[in-house]
Amino acid sequence: SGVEQLGDMIAEASVIVPFTGAGISTESGIPDFRSPGGLWSRNQPIPYDAFVARQDARDEAWRRRFAMQPTFGAARPSRGHRALAALYRAGKIPAVLTQNIDNLHQASGFAEQDVIELHGNTTYARCIGCGRRHELEWVKACWERTHHAPVCTVCDEPVKTATISFGQPMPEEAMQRAAELAQNCDLLLAIGSSLVVWPAAGFPLLAKQSGAKLVIINNEPTDQDQTADLVIRYDIGEILGPFVGN
Ligand code: OAD
Ligand code: ZN
Repeated sequence: SGVEQLGDMIAEASVIVPFTGAGISTESGIPDFRSPGGLWSRNQPIPYDAFVARQDARDEAWRRRFAMQPTFGAARPSRGHRALAALYRAGKIPAVLTQNIDNLHQASGFAEQDVIELHGNTTYARCIGCGRRHELEWVKACWERTHHAPVCTVCDEPVKTATISFGQPMPEEAMQRAAELAQNCDLLLAIGSSLVVWPAAGFPLLAKQSGAKLVIINNEPTDQDQTADLVIRYDIGEILGPFVGN
């Protein structure tokens, strides 16, 4: 079966690089983007240009972020996260490439520097001018005082979650490291992503073109199923649960 084949491929590989999407975090209680009921069925994304240009867009972005805080605050690593952490501890996985912004790979035991965040992180904020980090508690306090999104205490530019919005430049160092990891693994596991958002979705393909095997684990078809050596169209927690160990 697909599961046995996955077990063999994991056993045979010496360098495994996972590439994760929102589907690995649904078991943690965080909705994905493109499933029915997903985030993009409820809200249109706010493009980066709008955030930069308009106070009302910034206010709306922060209103949504604070509305999600109970969800992000309560989220704990899923079986998928924990299985990858076990393979990381075993030395099979050097680092994880993720489109997720929820900090759950770090929470599962990956060192900060071994989580390559392609779309940033929503558990803290940054000034879009000087890049200074700001904590969400501070943003929340400003919000409650003024009912507006705050500006940076250093340079007066808007403060935004440390995520990458549509139209915002990709993080250069993360892109560079992701490319190196994709080119130097022998197995890439694409887990819980529709694989439709570029350039991130290019990394499974890059790994495949560089000679790695590609496995896709997702409960719906993805854009790259044709390219994969193995497609497991099933629940991530059920498939990866057996790899969690103790
Ligand atoms: P999507 O919502 O596009 O895809 C998540 C996939 O995971 C869907 O195909 C689901 O069917 C699947 N899925 C959900 N739960 C699952 C489970 N328990 N087991 C198996 N499969 C499951 O999310 P991403 O591909 O991560 O970027 O989205 C990519 C990017 O689009 C995000 O990083 C975000 C978004 O816009 C930005 O905002 C820049
Ligand atoms: Zn600043």
